[in-house]
Amino acid sequence: MSPTRELPPTAGMPVSPFELVNLITARDTFAEDICKFLAVDDVEFFSSATTALWIAFETLKRKTGRTHIVLPGYTCPLVAISAHAAGLRVRLCDLQPNSFELDLNHLERIADEKVACIVPTDMAGLPCYIEGVSAIARRNGAYVIEDAAQAFGASRKNTPLGTAADITVFSFAAGKGLSLVDGGIASVPDPDLRSLLRKTANELLRPDFGLVCLRNLQLLGYSFLYNPTGLKWIYGNDLRKALSTGDLVHAVGDYFEMQQPHYKFADWRFKLGAHLMKRLPDFIRSNRNRALGRIQQISAQTSLEVMRELSDTEGSWPFLFLLCDGQKTRNKIMSDLWTAGLGVSRLFIHELSGYEYLKPILETESKDLPNARSLAERSFTVSNSHWLDDETFKHILKAVQTYAPMDHSAHPA
Ligand SMILES: Cc1ncc(COP(=O)(O)O)c(C=O)c1O
Repeated sequence: MSPTRELPPTAGMPVSPFELVNLITARDTFAEDICKFLAVDDVEFFSSATTALWIAFETLKRKTGRTHIVLPGYTCPLVAISAHAAGLRVRLCDLQPNSFELDLNHLERIADEKVACIVPTDMAGLPCYIEGVSAIARRNGAYVIEDAAQAFGASRKNTPLGTAADITVFSFAAGKGLSLVDGGIASVPDPDLRSLLRKTANELLRPDFGLVCLRNLQLLGYSFLYNPTGLKWIYGNDLRKALSTGDLVHAVGDYFEMQQPHYKFADWRFKLGAHLMKRLPDFIRSNRNRALGRIQQISAQTSLEVMRELSDTEGSWPFLFLLCDGQKTRNKIMSDLWTAGLGVSRLFIHELSGYEYLKPILETESKDLPNARSLAERSFTVSNSHWLDDETFKHILKAVQTYAPMDHSAHPA
């Protein structure tokens, strides 16, 4: 039976139809607002983070004349698809155990003179340790592209993400903190590299009036349905249908066509971006406070491991990423909570080499990634949406405690 309320799996900023109507006469200050927020001179706009990554990869392939790219073993399949679209061969790097951080020993071994760029990723909105990756990249003449698709608004050493890597990419897709249904930006601190990226974009991207109209219609639908009453129509029912047939990859939306839509992004939704930027700092602050309080409760009351911020960083916290002791425990928790409409879900079903449809675009040596696989097998997520109230969170916690109770003997008083 489908639940009456459906919570989103991530903390997207809602927008009302009323706000959309009011925007007709608003001024578009999106570019200025973003530059001010990120403290950068300029940013490039794209129709999605996927498009931004494709253009970034293509630019660096041309600049370096190299043929390969290094991606984290556990990330969004769209990143591998963008690399393939740019004609780069995908080499996967394993992660450190129980972490989103690239395994620097593995990276050192695979970041050779064929590699154009390395893509450290701020998974779950948590800024990654970029210095170690940058040092290896520099030694090997590769560039660093920070994939901050999930982390707009997060910061490192009190500085917003966007300046630490050669190129940083953010996403404004549906369900992301700042959502324009789709959209993305690339921040490129070096003006020469920025103009190269712009040149590639101008050469490869065309306006697409049909897609822009479709996205605007989808935005209108999103404004009506992105709430606990409407979400079952645009999310929950499809999820339950896919799960009922055992199709986990489709249940979390991990299947993507190799040909992704790319178009020149410049439309009315910029005005919405400018409007949402005003709410963003408070939105991120309250998400972070909620998340920090909840991960404390999870650590105190269950045996789960929680993915946390590294020191000197602040995450944007779209969801909490939790690790069980094994796949069996995770599966029991999911069988109770996944279809209950409570915002409990999974991030990526497999490590990248576990998706059959991606295998042809991966380098053959990239197959064995034990730590990335272990993350995929033992993890689940809890939404950090403000709609997931304390009562609902307690209910989730109680269900989790059944399968992953606190081991008091491990923590003597
Ligand atoms: C880590 C990561 N990179 C890239 C992307 C692609 O972003 P977009 O949907 O804007 O193309 C996503 C999408 O969720 C993501 O999670």
